[in-house]
Amino acid sequence: MEELFELAVTGILDRGYAVIDGFLNDAEVLTLRKRFLERRAKDAFSPAAIGQGEESQRVAAIRGDLIYWLEKEEAFPAEVAFINKMEDLMDYLNRTCYLGVRECEFHYAVYPPGTFYKRHLDQFQKDDARVLSVVTYLNEEWGTEDGGEIVLYLPKEGDQGEIAQKILPIGGRTVLFESGRLEHEVLPTTRDRMSITGWLRREKIL
Ligand code: OGA
Ligand code: MN
Repeated sequence: MEELFELAVTGILDRGYAVIDGFLNDAEVLTLRKRFLERRAKDAFSPAAIGQGEESQRVAAIRGDLIYWLEKEEAFPAEVAFINKMEDLMDYLNRTCYLGVRECEFHYAVYPPGTFYKRHLDQFQKDDARVLSVVTYLNEEWGTEDGGEIVLYLPKEGDQGEIAQKILPIGGRTVLFESGRLEHEVLPTTRDRMSITGWLRREKIL
């Protein structure tokens, strides 16, 4: 596990993002996808909102995903194991780069065919607690013809524009990036696109 965690550290320190293939192994992806689909079949997912608190709004023109927040108390063993692994990653990041992340939060997300999430930052206007965004994909056999790439907009050195880095949502792959700095978007998908998205946070969630 430490080798995978180390990839996260070097990526974040060198480039502000990391792509870790095989963060989850095939068996973990399979079990989590099964739990995901069970919860989806029970209609546990709701349309995601943008913004925070009273200002939050549902705007399908901006994002079209449906989400389900994972709570350890109601989680299946595979989901608890996933959260534990993320907590281990958080400890590792604190020990190796003093990131000061204390809490994490995760939701399942599904983007049905035709949906997307327009370019955005993951921090709220009045709340900078989110330090790192962490997205782990649960998809089976994903290719460029399926769409649904995450695009990271990477600033070039010295105000020289930006690079649009497209990354396919391949099962078991985890993408991490700095929540307050890297703008990103999800391109329209042609199939149900499944992920566990979350944030490592600076302070306790109130
Ligand atoms: C988000 C997000 C990216 C992805 O939920 O804020 O940007 O690849 N997700 O699902
Ligand atoms: Mn985002």
